Amino acid sequence: MNRTPQDNQEPVDVVIMAAGKGTRMKSSLPKVLHRLGGRALVAHVVDTAGRVGARQVVVVTGHGATDVEAALAQGVAGVVPQFARQVPQLGTGHALQQAAPLLADDGIVVVLSGDVPLIGEATLRDLVAQSAGRRLALLTIEADDPTGYGRIVRAPDPEGEGEIQAIVEEKDANEAQRAIREVYTGVMAVPTQLLRPWLARLDNRNAQGEFYLTDVVGLATVDGVPVVTHRIDDLLEVAGVNTPVQLAGLERAFQRRQADALLEQGVRLADPARIDVRGSLVCEADVEIDVNCIFEGAVSLGAGVRVGANCVIANARIDTGAVIHPFTHIDGEKAGATVGVAARIGPFARLRPGARLGAEVHIGNFVEVKNSTLAAGAKANHLAYLGDATVGERVNYGAGSITANYDGANKHRTVIGDDVHVGSNCVLVAPITIGAGGTVGGGSTVTKSTEPGSLTVSRGRQVSIPDWKRPKKK
Ligand code: UD1
Ligand code: CA
Repeated sequence: MNRTPQDNQEPVDVVIMAAGKGTRMKSSLPKVLHRLGGRALVAHVVDTAGRVGARQVVVVTGHGATDVEAALAQGVAGVVPQFARQVPQLGTGHALQQAAPLLADDGIVVVLSGDVPLIGEATLRDLVAQSAGRRLALLTIEADDPTGYGRIVRAPDPEGEGEIQAIVEEKDANEAQRAIREVYTGVMAVPTQLLRPWLARLDNRNAQGEFYLTDVVGLATVDGVPVVTHRIDDLLEVAGVNTPVQLAGLERAFQRRQADALLEQGVRLADPARIDVRGSLVCEADVEIDVNCIFEGAVSLGAGVRVGANCVIANARIDTGAVIHPFTHIDGEKAGATVGVAARIGPFARLRPGARLGAEVHIGNFVEVKNSTLAAGAKANHLAYLGDATVGERVNYGAGSITANYDGANKHRTVIGDDVHVGSNCVLVAPITIGAGGTVGGGSTVTKSTEPGSLTVSRGRQVSIPDWKRPKKK
């Protein structure tokens, strides 16, 4: 918060209405906590409020208030909102009445909705500029189908640009008003000093028995305060979420927009309709991403990285030239995961938190790596587990081998020196160190550390009995 607003302008304070029930979502989760692009709807709005330099962000909560407040309590991108409880919910005007006591007098208040997630930063800056510290500025669109929206009623004028007289809600509109296609988006900007007395004068004498925020338009005209509109064309910015169908539709539109931005930057997507970014994906030059990949949290891909089909990559850094083969799952969670320059991962590999892979490391199919460092050139190509391990350069870790890192109570480390060769189907019981250059024979269960350069074999000695006759059935 406290980011610089535009020059010569009153501070901007944002109120986000998020108290409504969202019955049509048919979900126990409060509507504004449903996710778009991996993030709660209302969190998108708080983030945008921060990006327009809001001094204060007040979220009006009601239905599911404790959950909504808990979800936002730590803030979004550094913006920590205040909360105003609205119980019961008597309309949008009533929502603002609850927020108003928290607002300073010297600001311009921007009213947003927690279920309209994609409102744009530039649009809000323009709207605030329209308010200019002395006018009521309404964000409007020209809707092909205005059903459900408040209509902008203007004084008669051949150009349709007559003075704004009121916003009339669908349920209160007469037939002529219903035909109006210029509609209110639910977003306004107005000096708090002007808004405050209007809020006190709202009543609920209307079709829905609610206190309509939109009635401030009529009050402004009575008071001689200019009402202006800022009309935008981008329906996505003002699209609200009321149903699962709308949420799914908005998700696709949002993903398509992100995919297009990646293409613009030069990322080669096999199909922009088949990628999902639920967080931030930063790509250097010449990145290629095949179909059906999901990126979550903060992911960065270095120059020339190739990601095969059906990969899920979260909270990870993939360095220059690395190749992630199909069906690989990488999730660094909080600790992060890193894949070194020109490494090859997968297909069907799993990298977990704290996987730190150096240059040219190879991790093959059905290999799991957790909280382990693999130095340059190390390879684990098939069916293996490396947990809490430090693996040296050029180590070859055989198929079916595992680190037994957990004794049932504590985790222990396995250290494998440079140039070690671990055969197939070995169990390295931690804590243990395999000395550099050593070899562990296939099928060994190793419980004691080994000397550098040594061969360690720990398994039943092979016995062959000649001319062995198998038992016969009686
Ligand atoms: C509102 C506008 C309408 C506009 C439309 C745009 C009013 C009276 N009408 O209608 O002109 O075209 O938005 O989408 O403002 N909320 C509360 N507390 C309440 C009621 C609502 O916090 O008591 C919140 C809702 O959770 C929602 C937002 O306010 O986030 C809008 O409420 P909603 O009921 O969807 O308003 P609409 O009837 O769609
Ligand atoms: Ca609505």
